[in-house]
Parts: sequence; structure tokens; C-alpha cells
Amino acid sequence: MKKINAKKIILFIIPIFLIVGISFMIVNLKKETKPVEIPELILKYKNAQVELNDKIYNLDYITKLENGHILTTKELVDTTAIGQKKVDIEVEDLNKQIQKIAIYIDVVDNEKPTITFPAEINTLVGQEVNLLADVVVTDNSNETIIPTIEGNYDFKVVGTYNLFYVATDSSNNTTKESFILNVKEDKKSTNENNSSKANTSTQTKSNNSSNTTKTNTSTQSSNQNSSTTIPNNSTNSNSSQTSDNKTEDNSDTEVHFTTSKGFAGVTKNGVTYIDGYLVVNKTYSLPSSYGKSLTKETTDAFYVMQAAAKLDNINLWIQSGFRSYNTQYNLYKKYVAEDGVTLADTYSARAGHSEHQSGLAFDVNIIDDTFIGTPAALWLDENCYKYGFILRYPNGKTNETGYKYEPWHFRYVGKELATKLYNNGNWLTMEDYFGITSTYSD
Ligand code: DAL
Ligand code: ZN
Repeated sequence: MKKINAKKIILFIIPIFLIVGISFMIVNLKKETKPVEIPELILKYKNAQVELNDKIYNLDYITKLENGHILTTKELVDTTAIGQKKVDIEVEDLNKQIQKIAIYIDVVDNEKPTITFPAEINTLVGQEVNLLADVVVTDNSNETIIPTIEGNYDFKVVGTYNLFYVATDSSNNTTKESFILNVKEDKKSTNENNSSKANTSTQTKSNNSSNTTKTNTSTQSSNQNSSTTIPNNSTNSNSSQTSDNKTEDNSDTEVHFTTSKGFAGVTKNGVTYIDGYLVVNKTYSLPSSYGKSLTKETTDAFYVMQAAAKLDNINLWIQSGFRSYNTQYNLYKKYVAEDGVTLADTYSARAGHSEHQSGLAFDVNIIDDTFIGTPAALWLDENCYKYGFILRYPNGKTNETGYKYEPWHFRYVGKELATKLYNNGNWLTMEDYFGITSTYSD
């Protein structure tokens, strides 16, 4: 009985073993004959392109790897030369084989040079000045670019010459900026024996406007005060300041006032400071002769901010820096002709009322609404205060500033005030903070 049972069991088990064994072989055979999938990098962009000297990493352009995994670690790509850059990515395929896949990144230079320059140069007839003395060209290529001057002028002929600075980098990106050369009549030469007293009393005016060669040999203008410094020779006259009632003959005048939020203000020689900060808006103007170029503290702070932005892959450049009274006059006039006064007043300052004339403000990158929400605009909104800048015309604050949202316009005030106005990301305006208006008197 036992024997029969054992035989039966063996006869029953053998076919089961055979079936399982054969099935196992078939499955394994199938596995071995299945072709190994080739690892494939899925790239973010078909044509990976990067600006010269931008900071990018080898893995930045890769969305994922299919059929394997990436062994290469994150590393900076050398973007210091124009051309196609081969970047090898080491991967391990499904068979645990190590392979290299190349990706190609085009390093290009589409960025235009930036020209920092005095918008207006004054000289006396017969006195040549070096028109390039205060001109600085910067470019992402780090090459030395010598600007050229376009237009005709003659130092021997009195006149106002509309000229251009032109800077072109080795990739043929060109920037052209207009400036004015005033060749003025030399009244002084007919009155050479002026007393020293007379010269002293006109000092403020001559510093501001008709300076000659001396003005052009220095980037620092004596009539530009830092945002935190008030010029200190004064005679006090306390009164209450209301609005823009300055005249051009405002040398040696000083009017003190207190704002609605209790800040001390002073209008000195036609320039208003509140709590020590220069203020220019629709209420507070600047004399027509004020300003010459962006102040050094403004450009220095900009370069620091520009370098920091670059580390975050953000390119910043000054698209519009200092604008003289005359430049602003012509600009505003053009906008009024195009859009009428009411609309122009929402986005352009009248002559004497632009922060650009203060040398403490500039517009970056793209000066139109396409800049809104771009990575550069978002970065600036979040970070500019760390470098002493404020977003001067924030969104939704038109009734305070008098201007529509301008995510490209930044004003240097120093880190202390900038941090207060940043207000943890909920920008305050200078008008709200100081308790002042921004309205034209007419
Ligand atoms: N766009 C600003 C308000 C200016 O013209 O100064
Ligand atoms: Zn601006």
C-alpha cells in the first residue's frame, strides 16, 4: 500500500517539476533576449543656450534620465568663451553598465554693453573737453570696450549738440545712448577781473551748471549729495513746506518743515531732504541744473547687486540711468505728444521731477510691462533692499507715488531705509513712510 502510494506521488510530482522548470527556463530565456533599453537624457530645452559668463550647472538642463540613473555630480559649466560646449554626463544603464552621454550647450553673447555716462556735458567755446572722460562701458564679455561718439560737434562754435555714445562688443551687440554737448558762450572772458567775492557768491550756480573742463574730468559731481547726506552750510529759516514752489534762483536758501508723520524736512538750494534722504516726486522737484551722472554710491551698490544676481543666474543691466533736466523735458514732451498729459503723467515725470535727475535712480533691463513677473523682476523685488535699493513705484501704490507700477525703476537709499521700506516683502512707498504727497501744484 505504502509502495503504491510513493510511486503515485512520484509520478504526480515529476510532471509538476517539469512544468515549473520549463516555465522558468522560458521566462529566463525571454528575459535574456529582451534588448537592453538605452539610457536617454530628457533635456529641458532642445537647444540649450546660455549667456556668456552666466553661472550654470551641468545638470541644469536635464529634466530626467530614462533607463538608468545619473552618476555625474552637479558641477559648474565653464561659460567663459563663446561657442559650443560639450558636457559629458556619466550614467549607469539598467545593466549596471557605465556610459557617457554628451550634451551640448551653446555659449552665446546677446547681451548689450552698458554705458554709464554724463547725459549732458558743458564747456565754453574754444575749450575742448574729453567727451569720453566720464564714460564707463561694462559688458558681460569682460572685454575692454572703447566707446565712440556719433554726431557732429565743434568746440569752436557755440551750440547744443545732440550726440551719441556707441559701444559695441566683440559679438556685435551695440548700445547707443544719447547725450548733449553744450558749447556755451564764454561770458567770463569779457569780464576777467571779477572780484573774488563775486565768484564766491555764484559758486553754487557754477558748480551746478556751466562748469567746464573740470566738471568733465571727474565722475563725482560736487552738486550731488548722497541720499543720506545734507549739505551743511546753511542759514535756517523755519517754516512749513507745502509744495513745489521753488525757483531756479534758489542758491543759499533753506526752508525747514515737518512732514505729517513727524519727519524733519529741509529744502536747501532747491533740493528737498526728508530725514536726510533726498526726495524727488511730483511735489518735490530738483533745480534744472542739478545732477550730472549716477552717483558713485549708486553705481557701486548696483555693481554689488548685479554680481549677486548673476550668482542666481539673473542678468541685470542699467537701461536708463541719469537723465538731465533737458533729457527729461524732451522725454516727457514726447510722451505728452503721444498720449496726452493725463496719461503721460502716470508714467513719466515732468522735467525737474524725475528721480533719474537725482543720480540715485535707474531703470533696469526692460522698461515696459513685459518685464513684470520675469525672473529678474521677481529677484529684484525680493533682493534689491539688501543692496540699498527700493522698488520706488510698487504695484497698487499709484495714489501714493503718483505713478503706475514700475518694476524696473530702483532708487538708492541705503540699506537701512531700504530694509524698512521693503517691509518684509510688502513694499512701503517713500510717500507713505515719510508722510508726504506726490502731486503737481498745477
Ligand atoms: N518713469 C519715472 C516716473 C520717471 O519718469 O522718472
Ligand atoms: Zn525710472
